[in-house]
Amino acid sequence: MYLNPKYYKNPHEFNPDRFIGIEPQKNTLLMFGGGMRMCPGKKFALTEIRCLITLIFRSLDVSLVDANASVKLISTFMSACAELMVKINQREEQVASLFKLGG
Ligand code: HEM
Repeated sequence: MYLNPKYYKNPHEFNPDRFIGIEPQKNTLLMFGGGMRMCPGKKFALTEIRCLITLIFRSLDVSLVDANASVKLISTFMSACAELMVKINQREEQVASLFKLGG
């Protein structure tokens, strides 16, 4: 599907931006494919992504710039946050403890 120029222009070009602001045709944006050849690593990949996000956020202090600001959503085939102003600070003690693991 992703290599079909009918649905994706220059399909062999590495261009993650191709997905920004598009309204995909039905069944042309299946993250892990579908049917018999569906990605067998899906659950593993999602678990890894959750672990990675957890590790990143463990070392960061994230807070809203304006806790009263309304959430700006874009809703097409799925909903996404259009803008979310946050303050990000490094948590020094958390970073240090990460490097102590196993040592
Ligand atoms: C974010 C991570 C990943 C994404 C987005 C992804 C996506 C995909 C997609 C779109 C396909 C084609 C499915 C189709 O033809 O319908 C595929 C196939 C495949 N993926 Fe993944 N994948 C990911 C991670 C992984 C991981 C971690 C593994 C293995 C540990 C894996 C192993 C495979 C294999 C072996 C196939 C070929 C399946 C077949 O042709 O029968 N993938 N993947």
